[in-house]
Amino acid sequence: MILRPAKRIRGRLTLPGDKSISHRAAIIAAMSDGTALLNNYSTSADCAATLSCLLALGVSVERHGNDLIIQGAGRDGLRTPRQPLDCANSGTTMRLLAGTLAGQDFATTLTGDQSLRGRPMQRVVAPLEIMGAQISSNGGRAPLTIAGRQPLKAIDYKLLVASAQVKSCVLLAGLNAAGKTTVIENEVTRDHTERMLTLFGAPIETGSAEREPGGARFASVTGPAQLRARDVSIPGDISSAAFFVAAASMLPGSVLEVAEVGINPTRVLFLEQLRAMGFNVQVRDEREQSNEPVGSIDVRGAANRNGAAAQAPFMITGSLIPQLIDELPLLAVVGSQVEGGIEIRGAKELRVKESDRIATTVRNLRAMGAAVEEFPDGLRVAGRVKLHGASVEPDGDHRIAMAFTVAALLADGETEIKDAGCVAVSFPEFFELLDSIVER
Ligand code: S3P
Repeated sequence: MILRPAKRIRGRLTLPGDKSISHRAAIIAAMSDGTALLNNYSTSADCAATLSCLLALGVSVERHGNDLIIQGAGRDGLRTPRQPLDCANSGTTMRLLAGTLAGQDFATTLTGDQSLRGRPMQRVVAPLEIMGAQISSNGGRAPLTIAGRQPLKAIDYKLLVASAQVKSCVLLAGLNAAGKTTVIENEVTRDHTERMLTLFGAPIETGSAEREPGGARFASVTGPAQLRARDVSIPGDISSAAFFVAAASMLPGSVLEVAEVGINPTRVLFLEQLRAMGFNVQVRDEREQSNEPVGSIDVRGAANRNGAAAQAPFMITGSLIPQLIDELPLLAVVGSQVEGGIEIRGAKELRVKESDRIATTVRNLRAMGAAVEEFPDGLRVAGRVKLHGASVEPDGDHRIAMAFTVAALLADGETEIKDAGCVAVSFPEFFELLDSIVER
């Protein structure tokens, strides 16, 4: 993809359904009794991987555009797949399905593409083994062969990594365990699984973990649980919106509205960080839909006038990291445009995403002329740099390709994004929608 600089962004968008919520809606509907209509299901390749795994497990899925009708298989209705389940590039598919499959009375193998087979799976294998599942892996990586057990043992589990995928895996396994399974997290991660389980009538409790240090939360499910199918309307994906919101913020004269987008409090920290950097981003018309907050985002573009007299870099670290995890490469790009630059630390999880996102962000920012220092757990980018066009290599990582498309809009000259088709992993419509709002 060859990109030229942009003058500004103008328009109003609604976006395909949230990827995280879509995975959960499909998996939880598949485990329920009855028929669920899922409206505005994500168009991402990741969510298509979840559906094809569910089909292979004997779940009936009918597709009408972006609406799905899923006939739930109930608690015992999943069937032995004929082949290993291919999770493609999708960590969420693999880690959530691992939890679902641990409580079945048959064995399944989960595999994926080269990137996914290189990512850490011990973080889900460990708690599932404590629950009684037998799992063989390739040294803690996929392929995973999971021999289920019925019922699993209910456990109390403290997350060792701040990961919504691990939390969700244990909660989904807990539906097929005898008794109460509790997950404790010290840092807030996205809570879509808890919300979706509530919607489907699961016996679930959530709250602050009184006996843990400040800020810790718990979620418990009591199994064996019977879920009732519900219709779900899925809001637009805020992590996809983030690219357009960032571009519009930085391009003076831009006016952008993103309507019907998910604004779950565990996902909106990116907007707050943009505001803290002095950009003009507002949320309005908040309402509830299928137990998730939904609203509109308004952006007015201006050059950054960082109020906080910023000679020092804008710092992002600690408990903020899990709530910004997918937006950090994009924030690094934004940081290159603000007074004082940006420093992101405590983010070593970025190294085990679809690519090593610290390495891919550092390399491509440098290629475009930014001064960047790399750390084992993050990076520091000098501010107010005029980026120049370059050849960007995203290493097959959708969010890197999109973050550097935003950089390209701000740069002098042309930028080439190699292998730009990888954006389909989360957002196939990305370039088309960008074209519809960009003015050159
Ligand atoms: C996701 C959780 C995050 C995030 C991923 C989606 C989810 O991963 O990076 O894109 O849907 O639960 P981790 O849980 O591994 O941090």
